[in-house]
Amino acid sequence: MTAYKAPAVVLSPIADEVLQGLSATPKKLPPKLFYDAEGSRLFEQITELPEYYPTRTERAIFEQYAPEIVAQAGNNLTLVELGAGSASKTRILIEALARRQLRLSFYPIDVSVAALKDAVIGLNGHLRHLRVRPIVADYSHHLPQLSALPGRKLVLFIGSTIGNFEPNEAVQFLTHVRASLEPGDALLVGFDLVKNAGVLHAAYNDAQGITGQFNKNVLARINREAGGHFDLNTFEHVSFWSPAQSRIEMHLESKVEQDVLIDDLSKVFHFDAGERIHTENSYKFTSGSIGNLLRESGLRLERCWRDKDDWFAAVLARVGS
Ligand code: AVJ
Repeated sequence: MTAYKAPAVVLSPIADEVLQGLSATPKKLPPKLFYDAEGSRLFEQITELPEYYPTRTERAIFEQYAPEIVAQAGNNLTLVELGAGSASKTRILIEALARRQLRLSFYPIDVSVAALKDAVIGLNGHLRHLRVRPIVADYSHHLPQLSALPGRKLVLFIGSTIGNFEPNEAVQFLTHVRASLEPGDALLVGFDLVKNAGVLHAAYNDAQGITGQFNKNVLARINREAGGHFDLNTFEHVSFWSPAQSRIEMHLESKVEQDVLIDDLSKVFHFDAGERIHTENSYKFTSGSIGNLLRESGLRLERCWRDKDDWFAAVLARVGS
């Protein structure tokens, strides 16, 4: 009989991604590592900063156009949301849908059980004919087969989360979403738009330094969850607009030459003075780049709603036959 032998070392769930990212040249860490409980709290704070316009601008679009948006999407819809961290904006669309149909099922999909709980609690008892059915899944890796859910779907992918993907990954991802849906289903995508460089820069370099705390939280998280020994005071938040790539880049820059041990990896990572860890890209779009992305993903761009300043766009795309 062969006895089961427990592995000597159980890596924390993030250790693998940390090892990969910090072993790469240049060093990088995936933005989804920002969102532990502390990071999600900091992001909520970011969305209320005077400099951070995306959340309130997208909300303003929904407040003005929700009835038009849901009417354009179709009748008797089943609502799906990829990512559940945007309950306050989603609620506006839910209320508009609930005025048009007797029953509404809402399937928020998120990897974080905590985020799903918040979404469900925020909506509970809110509308009598609303059924909320949370799904725990990392939709960027293992998208559930959405056509298995009942009814014609309206899928929300809002908040400009699409901007975190590399352009080719964004096409791959939207292609997957399309393939998992049926002809006639709709997809509402939120895109942050290219705008004045000063406005963009300020949104990621706020005066209170919350974005810097959010950025550095990824190192604090590695310390907490993987036995890292990062001294946060030796890293600086660096964030800038890169017009050539149409993106905001966020980095953490080591102010000194240093070696940092991560216990769970039994490994030391060397940093030169001035060396950076690339932690996020936040792509900004134009009508041209939105059109190209949807076309390359096999989706039909049906209609687009923008705020008065043209800072943000909510785009309804259709799955064709
Ligand atoms: C949640 C990806 C839309 O890119 O603006 C906010 C994350 N990063 N401040 C963004 C973020 C720094 C945000 N997204």
